[in-house]
Amino acid sequence: MQIIHTKVVIVGAGPSGLLLGQLLSLHGIDNIIVELKSAEYVGQRIRAGILEQGTVDLLRASGVGARMDEIGIPHDGFELAYYGKRFRIDLNKLTGGKNVMCYGQTEVTHDLMEARAEKGLATYYESSNVQINDILSRHPSVSFEHNGTSYRLQCDYVAGCDGFHGVSRQTIPEEKRTEIERVYPFGWLGVLSDTPPVNHELIYAKHERGFALASMRSPTRSRYYIQVPSTDTVDQWSDDAFWEELKKRLPKDCADKLITGPSIEKSIAPLRSFVCEPMQYGRLALVGDAAHIVPPTGAKGLNLAAADVGLLHKLLCKVYVDKEEHQFTRYSELALERVWQTERFSWWLSNMLHDFSGDNTESMEKLLFDRFMNAELSFYLSNETGMKLIAEQYVGLSHVEI
Ligand code: APR
Ligand code: PHB
Repeated sequence: MQIIHTKVVIVGAGPSGLLLGQLLSLHGIDNIIVELKSAEYVGQRIRAGILEQGTVDLLRASGVGARMDEIGIPHDGFELAYYGKRFRIDLNKLTGGKNVMCYGQTEVTHDLMEARAEKGLATYYESSNVQINDILSRHPSVSFEHNGTSYRLQCDYVAGCDGFHGVSRQTIPEEKRTEIERVYPFGWLGVLSDTPPVNHELIYAKHERGFALASMRSPTRSRYYIQVPSTDTVDQWSDDAFWEELKKRLPKDCADKLITGPSIEKSIAPLRSFVCEPMQYGRLALVGDAAHIVPPTGAKGLNLAAADVGLLHKLLCKVYVDKEEHQFTRYSELALERVWQTERFSWWLSNMLHDFSGDNTESMEKLLFDRFMNAELSFYLSNETGMKLIAEQYVGLSHVEI
């Protein structure tokens, strides 16, 4: 058994773990990352692509903003298409100059992995049997196997950045956590293709046939989604069937000029709202998807993870640089405030834009929900105050100051 000492062990090398590692290292706080999958697998995962202003600022402050600033595409607005009628949310004007950055999570991960490799910081990819021990003591540890050797990392704190299916959250005894969840009765079928985007800004479309989203990764690469029943599988959807359905749901002028092509990635993502309370236990802090999931409407998943990281790294700086050990215990309460605001927005936008009729059985509840959501959306889109509320949440609430 190899025993190694460090300050912070980070479980999981997704965007949360990598960004936290980068920020801690910048402040001279030793850390080691332990990851289940290979570096290649982590680097190729396709996820969302819109960064809030606060995430962009944090990536720049972490020293990994150069490529984002070079090839990312700033977006000053986006569109909501309501049964074919297009409304533009002018982010820049409505928020007093803020915008979002279109830059894929795959690219963010790539930049963070490169920065970590350049610094020669330790990351144990392809680890198995990862376990978090003695988390209520002052000397927790993380044990795992890697390349046939058993390791024990002795540390002060553990950051659980291992996503929804990781071990970190399970380390908190069941009776000490509350998990609040809603699973939606549909998913998003996503297609990535090397075709020019149909519009220079994103279009979120509400349609009788269900929700659709036109997004992008670059001037020559598009990302499109359509709402499908959660019982559908990718094999049921040929590329042609996908494009046909997408055209039906986009506003007509867009559908007419949509350029289609072979999919280079096609997958179905389930939709879920999920929060684990509290987000810390002893010397363990849960970060990103390990603590919460939002439905992708509004592109908040990665941004919420980045906000957690921003907060946790500030608190750990207080602990190590200012020697204020008690600051760590503030994490969950401070993080949850922003988490719930963001969960609420993602849930609200999902409610308004999707079709919930499902199996077509009509109940009074379903009819009421449908009519209320239509009324809600047309109300918000009918006046500037409504649009401003959408814009302010879309560009992202400010990060917590401590
Ligand atoms: N031990 C070590 N690593 C693990 C374990 C484990 N037991 N279980 C999972 N992991 C790894 C996963 O392989 C993955 O690389 O933890 C990482 C978690 O990464 P993500 O799921 O991407 O979660 P996070 O880093 O919080 O990213 C935030 O924002 O856009 C959303 O869901 C999207 O991934 C995104 C997230
Ligand atoms: C994406 O480009 O993948 C994307 C964009 C916006 C969303 C969700 C996903 O709300």
